[in-house]
Amino acid sequence: MQNKKRLRNAAITGVGMYAPEKVLDNKYFESIVDTNDEWIRTRTGIEERRIMENGATSDMATKAVEDLLQSTNTSAEEIDAIIVATVTPDMLFPATACLVQDNIGAKNAWGFDLSAACSGFLYALQTGAGLIEGGQFNKVIVIGADKMSSIVDYTDRNSCIIFGDGASAVLLEPTDNLDYGIQDSVLVCDGSGRDKLYLKGGGSLNPATEETVQNRMHYLVQDGKAVFKVAVKQMAEVSVNLMEKNNLKAEDITYLVPHQANKRIIDATANRMGIDKDKVMINIQKYGNTTAATIPLCLTEYYRDGKVKKGDKLILSAFGGGFTFGSIYLVWSID
Ligand code: COA
Repeated sequence: MQNKKRLRNAAITGVGMYAPEKVLDNKYFESIVDTNDEWIRTRTGIEERRIMENGATSDMATKAVEDLLQSTNTSAEEIDAIIVATVTPDMLFPATACLVQDNIGAKNAWGFDLSAACSGFLYALQTGAGLIEGGQFNKVIVIGADKMSSIVDYTDRNSCIIFGDGASAVLLEPTDNLDYGIQDSVLVCDGSGRDKLYLKGGGSLNPATEETVQNRMHYLVQDGKAVFKVAVKQMAEVSVNLMEKNNLKAEDITYLVPHQANKRIIDATANRMGIDKDKVMINIQKYGNTTAATIPLCLTEYYRDGKVKKGDKLILSAFGGGFTFGSIYLVWSID
């Protein structure tokens, strides 16, 4: 059940984004691997993706936060905490959150990175909401940012066509009106999927050596078919579970906001949930899979296009490496 014992909810009160300028269209991939535009469009729904040429994840995250601060008229000193969901941190440490904190001059903030692959934004949103609900923090920035081009193997046609770079951020603040903001979540991790989507090299198991480089162990590896099947099943299951817990019927939902990994996964998930196609946020055609950034990028674009209104009921749902998956139910609180 929805937790009404809370004294305050966390609500998204602002959004921001950054998409790098360089565009890689499907034609480009025809020149580097054995694929074609038609296959990519029909099998994934992707038409183009953005690539960060110079700079790292923290640079994209910083630009997204600058956009957020400017559009909400918030000063960096007001920020209490910064959470960065990413699997492509600039370095293992310091955390990308520290780099963003310094870049924007958030001198009163603490922060950390969170690794949950494509579910990263949802995990970070729930974590940020907990900080607000606890009463100790009032302005928390949650960022989803990934420079996937830094870990994609551009000789592997199964994976290289899917991913892109991008960053997006939301501001969380408290609301006393418990009808708004983040209402409930179902979040799961299942490490038995560890060999279906992973990056083996560079960690403590396989520190970088000549051998790890020769064996291409610093690139992402994915069993696309296995991931596809589990993604559809789990995203739909957790979403239906969340809807039942909160007495929501498909017609009550204004938007399903799914992780953008493959248009066919999105369609199948919506179908299993009984959600009409016109109530599903989609921008995969423009950005591909930007891992932790896909959901906030959708929220930002739809909100700025005037398509999301105060009181709208949203189910955010994601699936990713780990496996990690989950859904969050929130009521939009910005006019
Ligand atoms: N261009 C042309 N053919 C391709 C291709 C490409 N880019 N990628 C794969 N193929 C081929 C395969 O090699 C296979 O050929 P074969 O039958 O001769 O072996 C054929 O297409 C079908 O492969 P399959 O894996 O069944 O394709 P698919 O329809 O499942 O699409 C993915 C492949 C990767 C797009 C799809 O499985 C997918 O999206 N998986 C989930 C990925 C994901 O969501 N990852 C992020 C998790 S958050």
